[in-house]
Amino acid sequence: MRTLIAANWKMHMTRSQAQSTARQLTEKLEGKLPENREILILPPFTSLETVAGVISGKDGFSLGAQDFYPAEEGAYTGEVAPGMLLDLGCGYALAGHSERRHVFGESDELVGEKLAYGLEKGLHMILCIGETLTERNNGVIREVLSRQLRTALDSARVRNSLGSGLSVAYEPVWAIGTGEVARPEDIREAHAMVREDLMTLLPQIGEETGILYGGSVKPDNISQILGIDNVNGVLVGGASLKPDSFSAIALG
Ligand code: 13P
Repeated sequence: MRTLIAANWKMHMTRSQAQSTARQLTEKLEGKLPENREILILPPFTSLETVAGVISGKDGFSLGAQDFYPAEEGAYTGEVAPGMLLDLGCGYALAGHSERRHVFGESDELVGEKLAYGLEKGLHMILCIGETLTERNNGVIREVLSRQLRTALDSARVRNSLGSGLSVAYEPVWAIGTGEVARPEDIREAHAMVREDLMTLLPQIGEETGILYGGSVKPDNISQILGIDNVNGVLVGGASLKPDSFSAIALG
């Protein structure tokens, strides 16, 4: 299975910073990536075109969006439609990143609508899920992950539109941007739960759907994380902003 190393730049970088960072990454990584490894860059909307220009024609690099609104077009001030992202060269998009859920109050239902809509439009969708610290302390991780997966994936719309590809990113909310990385046994356990649910919800692709880990991934923990069962890639925030640290992760 392909290993996806994704850089979620969140709300960072002007166009010139994005251009310089993307250029340095392509210089450091092109032709050096381990086999079956793909680099996905998720810049803010304003830098998508800039990054597209830098990575165009570069082997092993893809472009994606951090979010979108699930409609063709219309009176949705401030929002961006999947068709606009495809037009800029995006092949991927996230749905349900924890910051969308917790800072902007996105419900499981809205995340599910985005997931189905993005797949229907031909985007490879990365569904982000994860428990909060309170949920972890209350021992309800299984329920939370299963609910987030079921609400998004248990639909005929999803089952009928899997052609463009689906991945799941497990990002424990308490490990995002905190420097606190989940223990290998926690990651192993959570990814096994996700795999089991994927096999039940989408038996035709459950086994080969990539499951990414996200939360304080750094150059010094990447090889351990990628060695854990059912970890098929990573979604990197803070450490993806610096070419040196992200390229070390990409090669790790
Ligand atoms: P950090 O790598 O900064 O913890 O962020 C993880 C994340 O949210 C990636 O989507």
